[in-house]
Amino acid sequence: MGCLSLDKKITEKLEWGKYVSPISDKNLSPFNWYSFKHRFGSELVSRMFSMFGLSKGNIVFDPFCGGGTTLIKAKLDGYNSIGLDISPFSVFLSNVLTKSYNVSKLDNTLPRISHEINPRVEIPDVAILNKSFSDSSLKYIYSLRDSINVLQRQERDFFLFSLLSILNSVSKAKKSGGFLRITDQKKVPAITIENLFIKTSEKLINDVKTFKYSGASAKAIIGDARKYPSFTKEESYDAILTSPPYPNRHDYTRIYELELLLGFINSNQTLKNLRYDTLRSHVEARKRFNANGYVKPLLLEKKIGELNNRELNNNQVIPTLEGYFEDMYLSLKEMASVLKPQKHIGLVVSNVRFAGVMIPVDELLAEIGEQVGLKLKKIFVLRYRGNSSQQMLRHKREPARESLIVWQK
Ligand SMILES: C[S@@+](CC[C@H](N)C(=O)[O-])C[C@H]1O[C@@H](n2cnc3c(N)ncnc32)[C@H](O)[C@@H]1O
Repeated sequence: MGCLSLDKKITEKLEWGKYVSPISDKNLSPFNWYSFKHRFGSELVSRMFSMFGLSKGNIVFDPFCGGGTTLIKAKLDGYNSIGLDISPFSVFLSNVLTKSYNVSKLDNTLPRISHEINPRVEIPDVAILNKSFSDSSLKYIYSLRDSINVLQRQERDFFLFSLLSILNSVSKAKKSGGFLRITDQKKVPAITIENLFIKTSEKLINDVKTFKYSGASAKAIIGDARKYPSFTKEESYDAILTSPPYPNRHDYTRIYELELLLGFINSNQTLKNLRYDTLRSHVEARKRFNANGYVKPLLLEKKIGELNNRELNNNQVIPTLEGYFEDMYLSLKEMASVLKPQKHIGLVVSNVRFAGVMIPVDELLAEIGEQVGLKLKKIFVLRYRGNSSQQMLRHKREPARESLIVWQK
């Protein structure tokens, strides 16, 4: 694909820009039940549904389903959906947020949940937990988790979700950019956590009454977007809407470490393994698959050449970036293999910059998509993101595009 033809395919669609982040859903249940920072807005999903001409009963797929936005919006609008994510927390979120609940069962269960602290409760030996909570609060949280775990499936998932949704606000560790940062905030006492859990649960139960799902199905499963589990391959999809991790070094297993530890993972080693298994968008992820058939784009070669002449603050930046595009080749190849002919993929991604070198992730992925047999329709620039203040001082301001890439099979 020559550069000239690509230039013509890049178009601004800035009126969609305000829907790229979840801010536009801050008053909208159930999107606002959990603050998953890397969600796209539900209106963006809705506009993609229209752009791709979906009809009721169609089935959509999101191989990096994250906070579940695609699945939730599909369920509200009457489309069936399947989601995939490597993180058990993301899969849990996507499933909990797409269920319909029996309100009176929830009402009856809440007062029956025990708040007694079990002095011998088992807590994983992971440093971040002790840094985030006092000893007694940690024992309370894990004891509460254990009493939730014995409930029936729907109630269990609902109240576990409620507990996970308050962890960030009651912990000394805060999500900050791509990391968890220990703040100066005092450790929160167990009684405050208990009160907040009850208040949040009551609010969520009330919220359940405010929206009505269609009868469409929605299901998220744990899996790797570079090599789908067989279940995912049995279907073929009418559209794929997704947003993979950006190659900006954000590590979801760190950002959501507390939630993962409380709900799904009970040792440091299992957590590390998950970290190594994620897409190579951050320096700790490891190579897991060979990208047979991948041809490194010339433009990437050029950018890597520029980076080689810069001073980088981490010697893993270049290998990670190279690994990212290999992994995305595999992910796009899997997407192409399960998409119905003539149907569309909409993928949201941002360009990134290292040491002043702008990496045009959207153009590179557009080209890699064509390598796997997809036809590039357009790159819509949705918004421009500023530099970090550190970078601005050193390299002047050159905003990075955040784009929606659309291909057709
Ligand atoms: C940008 S988020 C997706 C957000 C989603 N569009 C939403 O609105 O909530 C990217 C997701 O990719 C997941 N992920 C990372 N590596 C993966 C892999 N190899 N396979 C599948 N999912 C992966 C992360 O766990 C994270 O949930």
